[in-house]
Amino acid sequence: MDETELRQALARYAFYHIIQLTDTISTPGNPQYVPAQKLCMKYLKSVDVKGKRVLDIGCRDGLFSFAAESMGAAEVVGIDNDLSKAATEFLIPFFNSKVRMHEMNLYDLKPESFGLFDVVIFPGVLYHLRYPFWGLRAIRDVLKIGGHLLIETAIWVGERNNALLFCPIGEDNPYAPDSTSCTFFNEKGLVDTLTSLGFQTVHTELLSKISASTTLRSYMKRFISHMSTRFIHADRPPNKQVHWCVVDRCVVHSTISEFDKGTFIARYWETTHDVHTTYGG
Ligand SMILES: C[S@@+](CC[C@H](N)C(=O)[O-])C[C@H]1O[C@@H](n2cnc3c(N)ncnc32)[C@H](O)[C@@H]1O
Repeated sequence: MDETELRQALARYAFYHIIQLTDTISTPGNPQYVPAQKLCMKYLKSVDVKGKRVLDIGCRDGLFSFAAESMGAAEVVGIDNDLSKAATEFLIPFFNSKVRMHEMNLYDLKPESFGLFDVVIFPGVLYHLRYPFWGLRAIRDVLKIGGHLLIETAIWVGERNNALLFCPIGEDNPYAPDSTSCTFFNEKGLVDTLTSLGFQTVHTELLSKISASTTLRSYMKRFISHMSTRFIHADRPPNKQVHWCVVDRCVVHSTISEFDKGTFIARYWETTHDVHTTYGG
């Protein structure tokens, strides 16, 4: 395929990822997402994927799937609930890649679907999940013991000492008008949730390193500006867009050890138990 044919082929698709195709041509994805992708890529490079089975959840055009393949992964499976035609029709054949992509919602993922994985890459999806705990549980169940989970997500900066989840809908969401973003853990909320599911977190890294005091200052500034606008334009309807929530992007690298599904708490949360029958209350 010469350069003109390549450019014509690219024009047929909508791209999310910027993926280098030749020395001079890349897919025309969205540069806005590159910093968070680079942070995730740094952690992917720190995990030894050689000869391993890798699952890329929310794989989109396959930036991380193709990267894992080029790093020597034995097998790479990507799932997305809106499978990228750009990836399946164009990029996989273009790279002569063995990456397998499937249209599937994370919630439908089972160990029987594709077997167990050594590494799960999960970037840019958690904050879109309406059922985040269930999604993380589904991931835990497809990881081999000792396996790695790389999450990249939007994270609510603030309240460092309490494990919290901000779950706005509609225009309360800090990424409004994108109404699909609805799950903003703070760092402790995400790490503690992972711990409760059997993960050990080995690294977390914030992209912009916004501190809690910056968060507070930023909120105060926006609040004062909001109040003065309301005072000056008292006749106008109040603007609801004063977010107290400041978000950064964060990579969380965790590993999984054996999860005992027989413990009281695991049975209480995930299956059946007899605590009330035995002890009352
Ligand atoms: C913001 S994009 C991130 C793409 C890529 N992972 C990255 O970080 O560059 C989110 C992707 O996850 C997919 N997605 C969202 N919710 C999903 C779910 N419940 N199951 C599977 N894929 C999902 C979307 O269709 C989209 O392709």
